[in-house]
Amino acid sequence: MRIPEGVIEEIQNRVDIIDVVGDYVTLQQRGSRFMGLCPFHNEKTPSFSVNREKNLFYCFGCHKGGTMFTFLMEIESITFVEAAERLAQKAGIELNTEGGTEESQSQRRLLEDFYQRISGSFHYFLTEHDMGAPAREYLRQRGVSDEIIEDFQIGYAPEDRRWLYRFLRGKNYSDEFLARTGLFSKRYPDVSIFSGRVIFPIFSPGGRIMAFGGRSIDGRDPKYINSPETEIFQKRRSLFGLYQSIKGIKEAENVVVVEGYFDVIAMFQAGIKYAVAPLGTALTEDQGRMLRRYSKNAVLIFDDDSAGLKAAWRGLEIIEKSGITGQIAVPEGGKDPADIMLNEGSISMHNMLKSASNGFDFLLEKAVARYGYGNANAKRRVLEALAPYLGTVESEVVREDYLKALADAIHSGFEAVKADLRAVLRKKKTRMEGQKATEVKKTSIGSDLFLMLVVVVNCNFYEKVRNSISIDQLHDSSARELYIALEDAYRQDELDIDHVIPRLESEDLQRLIFEKIATGEFEVNVEDLVKDGIRNIRSKALRKKREEVIEEIKSIAIKGSPRDALKELLSEKMYLDEELNRIKGDAQ
Ligand code: CTP
Ligand code: MN
Repeated sequence: MRIPEGVIEEIQNRVDIIDVVGDYVTLQQRGSRFMGLCPFHNEKTPSFSVNREKNLFYCFGCHKGGTMFTFLMEIESITFVEAAERLAQKAGIELNTEGGTEESQSQRRLLEDFYQRISGSFHYFLTEHDMGAPAREYLRQRGVSDEIIEDFQIGYAPEDRRWLYRFLRGKNYSDEFLARTGLFSKRYPDVSIFSGRVIFPIFSPGGRIMAFGGRSIDGRDPKYINSPETEIFQKRRSLFGLYQSIKGIKEAENVVVVEGYFDVIAMFQAGIKYAVAPLGTALTEDQGRMLRRYSKNAVLIFDDDSAGLKAAWRGLEIIEKSGITGQIAVPEGGKDPADIMLNEGSISMHNMLKSASNGFDFLLEKAVARYGYGNANAKRRVLEALAPYLGTVESEVVREDYLKALADAIHSGFEAVKADLRAVLRKKKTRMEGQKATEVKKTSIGSDLFLMLVVVVNCNFYEKVRNSISIDQLHDSSARELYIALEDAYRQDELDIDHVIPRLESEDLQRLIFEKIATGEFEVNVEDLVKDGIRNIRSKALRKKREEVIEEIKSIAIKGSPRDALKELLSEKMYLDEELNRIKGDAQ
């Protein structure tokens, strides 16, 4: 579905961006700006700003910026349409989401609707159809209840590998569209990759189905298949079980992170309805931040093997970095939560959670077990292994406690450990700051870009610019991109910043604009900035042209070409000289 431009404007008129952001960030007014702690990166002093008049937010720390729409999209991991729907509701505007032809609907929305429908069909096959009998039996044996099958909309894709293709072609979906759904083999477009598998729909936090995971039920490899990334699905930003868990996470003020689909299911079976799993990969920073929106505590459960240990180590760092306090539980005997639930029942599941140890204690124990503390080298290795984790701990009090425990464990003095840790962390930090400095240099601003940035922030000056300079006179590629976007908006009578920014390809450029808006540096003396900018660019272009003409005059004089040509060139040079003089005069 495409949201009409008028509606977007209406939303922006009626909804205050301060209210939208204020639902997630505590904002304080500072002059004309509102400031708070950035929800997109971890910080202790506020560098996140919101500008009410311009309807924009910007973080001076991580350089994220955007409109109330992009804010909601980012923080809730939702689509533009979903964000618009929520904001429309806030504004009290009716959004007609039904109907529309295939052309008028956005491709994303088409895919979303498709996933909704097809998962309904899969669910039907599992629960109602004869073809689903083996899958029903499989789930029964693994102890999955009907209630869970409903809550998670679990399904089954029929065994016949070409069945799905025929079914969907019969419903008039095009080959081209089906190829984009991620349900079919790339090589054989009529063969479904999920055939004969139990289907786990993967929901967005808002409850939309974006992808599937498929478990084989007859021992065939691979055991699991996940949807490829599509327009609506990014693995690193999805968590299985999150949608079903949100309520429980808030109630328990805790979330359990497990490794697989069936582990999440097992947790729910045990009444622990706040469990999520990444999709066959290690926990990502995006997932950490998603969880932080709902809980400050997490229990991570990992397999009792070396891979599990590594994942626990990394997972804790991610979790702590997101501002969540992590605990670790490792089930004994190489079992995972699904095994425990099936073999021992829900009491053991609850006991496992109760036995979770503080993340740091866990890591310390493992590091000491690995390196020992018998000599200086071993002590240093333990310290270095724990340093990244300690660096993410926000509270000084907590960190001091950890340092004491570390000093005790490796039989060293507290002050010495503290000093060493500081040195290790400092080394790491300078490395990171080195990287940052080069990033900034890449976007240094020349006079072309400077002018176009001023104009983007003050769109009403664009007409003057387009009358004075042509795009050929701009040499900076970002400046040209801005010119094109402004020209396009101008021709469609949409000349304002909200319409220009979405026309830009480069995210760096968008960020730069938000930064300029947030600093307010282009809000004073705009007229002079524009005038000077135009003059600079014009005189640069004229000087270049003049040099070319002079070169030509010289070569003609040498070759002895016809007089007319020379005359023409001389008069052109005269014109250029006059123009340059005029421009210089304007400047005074
Ligand atoms: N996984 C995957 N692709 C695979 C294997 C695993 O995406 N080929 C993911 C799945 O999300 C799975 C998780 O990794 O749930 C954990 O996998 P694993 O430990 O191998 O399996 P179990 O969860 O124990 O699977 P099951 O209980 O169904 O045997
Ligand atoms: Mn398992």
